[in-house]
Amino acid sequence: MARRTAILNNKGGVGKTAVAMRLAEALARRGRRVLYVEVDAQGNATRRFGVRWFEGMQTVNEAVRADTVGIVRKSIHPIGWREEYADRISLVPAWLELDDRIMEAGIPGSHLRLVKGLQGADDDFDETILDCPPSLSHLTQLALAASHQAIAVTEAEQDSIRGARRVLEFIAQKSYALHNEDLKVTGVIVTRMDTTRSVDRSQLTSAREIFGDLLWDPVIPRLNVFKELDTNGSPITRATGEKAGAARASFELLADTFEKRSLTV
Ligand SMILES: Nc1ncnc2c1ncn2[C@@H]1O[C@H](COP(=O)(O)OP(=O)(O)O)[C@@H](O)[C@H]1O
Ligand SMILES: [Mg+2]
Repeated sequence: MARRTAILNNKGGVGKTAVAMRLAEALARRGRRVLYVEVDAQGNATRRFGVRWFEGMQTVNEAVRADTVGIVRKSIHPIGWREEYADRISLVPAWLELDDRIMEAGIPGSHLRLVKGLQGADDDFDETILDCPPSLSHLTQLALAASHQAIAVTEAEQDSIRGARRVLEFIAQKSYALHNEDLKVTGVIVTRMDTTRSVDRSQLTSAREIFGDLLWDPVIPRLNVFKELDTNGSPITRATGEKAGAARASFELLADTFEKRSLTV
């Protein structure tokens, strides 16, 4: 069975998807087989991985709606990148209709639909990464109910740090209700950090005080190259310019930390 990791913060635009994708990529580069499940109707990861939605495509939405053991298998697609390691990344894409699943939140047991659908479906992978929407509501709960560990992503910024704290509290309070008492927050990743700004530096200091040992190294820098890669839907091997090496190195180091600090399943 794959190790399942939810990546989240209830604040949007903090860099969750960028971290989840670059981490998935770094893990695949070192030989891990990764299933990337996009649990966000925005479909940003789906686009950035070079996958286009088509009528009748099986996405995470169809899998959750079906409420059937192992059904996620039907929604696993190759990504559009051509790098050698891209073969080791598969995608469960998301599309706009995923938000329709939110109305099922009141149905008893509905938060278990994704864990049910994943059962057996990710056995051939080493890691399953669940990229969550900017909320702690039903879609994120589907991901949390299916995960072994959760990692909060934050910027060095007040509201984003609050969002990450809220994630920690939420999991401490709700893992029982999600039928997943073993769920652990194993890390907090700070990203989009601009070391030239004193406000970022002071917020990073306060994040270190709040999260202590839970805060992972390295902190991911704010670099245009990351934005360009996301805009173009490109793998990190396509990064160019003087900061390309720094961008790649930051995620190689983060993958080292991920391997050291993740739960063994
Ligand atoms: N380290 C970074 N440096 C610069 N821009 C970044 C970085 N990480 C993410 N971004 C950009 O910030 C925006 C939000 O990132 P995204 O990963 O989509 O956030 P979220 O998934 O939390 O909504 C995107 O335009 C993305 O390209
Ligand atoms: Mg996102």
